[in-house]
Amino acid sequence: QEMSKPQGAMGKGSVQAGQAKPNTFWWPDQLDLSPLRDHDNRSNPFGEDFDYAKEFNKLDLAQVKKDIDSVLTDSQDWWPADFGNYGPFFIRMSWHSAGTYRTLDGRGGGDGGQMRFDPLNSWPDNGNLDKARRLLWPIKQKYGKGLSWADLMILAGNVALENMGFQTFGFAGGRNDDWEPDLVYWGPEVAMLASDREDADGKLQRPLGATHMGLIYVNPEGPRGVPDPAGSAKNIRLAFGRMAMNDEETVALIAGGHTFGKMHGAHKPGDCVGAEPGAAGIEEQGLGWKNKCGKGHSEDTVTSGLEGAWTQAPTKWTSLYLSNLLNFEWKQTRSPAGAIQWIPTDESLHKSVPDAHVDGKFNPPVMTTADLALKADPAYKAIAERFLANPEEYRLAFAKAWFKLTHRDMGPRANYLGKEVPEEVLIWQDPIPENTAKPLSGGEVKKLKKAILDTGLTTAELVQTAWASASTFRAGDMRGGANGARIALAPQNSWDVNNPDQLNKVLGKLKDVQRSFNSGKKSVSLADLIVLGGAAAIEQAAKKGGVDITVPFVSGRGDAKQEHTDVVSFDLLKPTADAFRNYYDETNSYRPPTEMLVDKADQLNLTVPELTALIGGMRVLGGNWDGSSHGVFTDNPGTLNNHFFVNLLDMATQWRKADTAGLYEGFDRKTGEVKYTATPVDLIFGSNSELRAIAEVYAFDNANEHFVNDFVDAWVKVMQLDRFDL
Ligand code: HEM
Repeated sequence: QEMSKPQGAMGKGSVQAGQAKPNTFWWPDQLDLSPLRDHDNRSNPFGEDFDYAKEFNKLDLAQVKKDIDSVLTDSQDWWPADFGNYGPFFIRMSWHSAGTYRTLDGRGGGDGGQMRFDPLNSWPDNGNLDKARRLLWPIKQKYGKGLSWADLMILAGNVALENMGFQTFGFAGGRNDDWEPDLVYWGPEVAMLASDREDADGKLQRPLGATHMGLIYVNPEGPRGVPDPAGSAKNIRLAFGRMAMNDEETVALIAGGHTFGKMHGAHKPGDCVGAEPGAAGIEEQGLGWKNKCGKGHSEDTVTSGLEGAWTQAPTKWTSLYLSNLLNFEWKQTRSPAGAIQWIPTDESLHKSVPDAHVDGKFNPPVMTTADLALKADPAYKAIAERFLANPEEYRLAFAKAWFKLTHRDMGPRANYLGKEVPEEVLIWQDPIPENTAKPLSGGEVKKLKKAILDTGLTTAELVQTAWASASTFRAGDMRGGANGARIALAPQNSWDVNNPDQLNKVLGKLKDVQRSFNSGKKSVSLADLIVLGGAAAIEQAAKKGGVDITVPFVSGRGDAKQEHTDVVSFDLLKPTADAFRNYYDETNSYRPPTEMLVDKADQLNLTVPELTALIGGMRVLGGNWDGSSHGVFTDNPGTLNNHFFVNLLDMATQWRKADTAGLYEGFDRKTGEVKYTATPVDLIFGSNSELRAIAEVYAFDNANEHFVNDFVDAWVKVMQLDRFDL
């Protein structure tokens, strides 16, 4: 009996009794590879060949906008529009769609249209936004695959702003829809929230500030519900900072946003509001938060629990939010739902805001504690005063901050689609000057590869540099990558993991090659040469192992300049762990090495076999950042072959923990001699049963060529992750 019970399995995860249990239920510490298997093309109803850009470009964008504009004022009985205009409601939807973006790992944001799926669909912060999307369904239905939900949710916010008299900065389409929840992105985030949120209000009770939402914004009622505007300012600075917004952008966004619309807290949520969409009954057909009080909508709506509008003209672009905030004194009160909010001390103002639904009724303007933060904090206040005095400056600041908010996760401008893409190039777009040179011919590529190898740079040096350059890419916001050769610029040229001394030497030699090539009529970018150097080194290393192979290469990368490079923003791309170079920064990594390996592979869009081939190849090529021999299971480093796998799986070696924490030693079973050393990200390919299954394939007797081909394919994929131009 005892024997049949899995050792150490406590069933710590949670699964319902009748459900199949994943291995992580029994063994919570087992490495979970599922992040590398989601968003499978088989989930995409448009099929593998679907080209969203092509479909979007066929749209008549002006007509789409016209159609959305008519939805705004076509009030539906099942969810009547406040003030006869859904504009403010749609702006909140756009903001919440984009506002999950965070700079830390580039995840979140409006791309993918994730708000359609749980958990975002059911986050308390997104209360009633299910209705906003349902109101837009006729538009989605009309334009079908030509207009993704992700684009529509952002575009609707722009159309709403324009409808209410605001001149936007522009709009770019190009957000592809996902077809399943981003488990990768939201699962790990829980842990990150926990460590990040120490200073922020982590224990928010009200719907708008539920525990998950620290990253979107703060509790409107104040830190942990305490009505402390100065404390709220601190949290706002933290939360908006994590969204890549500075003080000016933050003031512009909050003031500009709350110029429109109202809050909803007509009744106590506990008395009236049903389950969120994810938990609602099947008959609700995907809608949630059913409100059984009064009409259940209109003047009875309960969303955040706060109640009222900020301005006297909630469907018009004005400076009223700022003048109200700065010119009135505010006193604390409570909404009908019991939430803390603020109204003017001057009672003559208490009947100055028209009611959203009841004719002839007037209400006081309101502010949340978070709004008052813009007055309590001296830096915010100075900006608010400047904006009030300079309406055009205010308008432009909000327009630009809104554009940044809603486009921040789309990657470079090459991904922007449509006629409304602003001409102005913005630093947060990580601009790269276009490479206008003629594509390199096959002969030129050959010549350059030879010139690079003739410099005497080693395989390890060339491979590490190319990898360092390309592997900053992160799928979360499509930043980073080899294009732009920013590895030659601050801050990347001084990151530890990039081995600055070696990097300088390599770049110096590559620049020599570039100079001599460019002295003729032709021109090659440094970015291309870095990638080409990797290709040349790999070809040579494969040949040494008896495999003749050409590493595919497409020229056309440009070189960025330092002034195009926001150093602070690029420092966010610094890896805290890069298993491919056997790098692990224990202090700053938020998860153990093997999990960081999966995280990095996920950001590089790698599959499990690709990840495996790359590790095996990088080790034998000498890819370790510090030149160490951890995981270099070969007698001939610098030769591309499958020895990493063959030797890892060889029973002649026995592995033990080394005295140094985090390291392992492999002993020859016969002689007792230490043959190899390794890190967890080396040995995981022998210990994890799924990774071992792939490692076995590459260790087969006749698998060397298969391995080399797979390695090269995965390598080229990484080198081209940012080639949106191809
Ligand atoms: C509504 C809080 C930032 C745009 C609301 C509501 C709350 C809130 C509590 C009421 C929701 C409801 O009950 O219906 C906050 C806080 C923020 C913030 C605490 C940050 C400190 C922003 C930003 C924007 C924005 C940056 C846009 C740029 C809106 C709009 C509405 C709204 C347009 C009105 C929605 C409607 O009329 O249905 N916000 N918000 N908010 N928010 Fe914010």
